[in-house]
Amino acid sequence: MAKLPILEFPDARLRTKAVLVETVDDEVRQLVDDMLETMYDARGIGLAATQVDVHRRVVVMDVSDDNSQPLVLINPRYEPMGDEKEPLSEGCLSIPEYYAEVPRYLKVKLNALDRNGEPYELEAEGLLAHCIQHEYDHLEGVLFVDYLSPLKRDRIMKKMQKRHKLMQDA
Ligand code: NI
Repeated sequence: MAKLPILEFPDARLRTKAVLVETVDDEVRQLVDDMLETMYDARGIGLAATQVDVHRRVVVMDVSDDNSQPLVLINPRYEPMGDEKEPLSEGCLSIPEYYAEVPRYLKVKLNALDRNGEPYELEAEGLLAHCIQHEYDHLEGVLFVDYLSPLKRDRIMKKMQKRHKLMQDA
């Protein structure tokens, strides 16, 4: 396994729309394993392939407290179960140190393929449902800051650019 570099906002590559995975082969499984290692190392609860500059529809997640429930979502699709939305504080490995409340559907039904290419269905609510919607957005090139006011988004962008310049100069 290998840890992969994570793209950070406002990197334009995060805006790429990912393509469907046609076959879940060893290359995809290697990507899944590398993404899980990268996510756990960064103490995240979800990571989309877009964030590691691979523009295929692959997501990994683990919302458990002890990294015991890895979830692999290949070609995920979801539909809301009901109209109810709730705001929850969200962060993102591509926008480190920033959190903001984003309203998402409370309950969703997920359809995806697992690491072996087997289809599965899952009804999710709360944090897991929130995470599914956040990661799905990544595959569409959408970031949680897109839900904020332009003013807030600009402020975060400027701070991120400053951070990147500091990292470059260091
Ligand atoms: Ni994210």
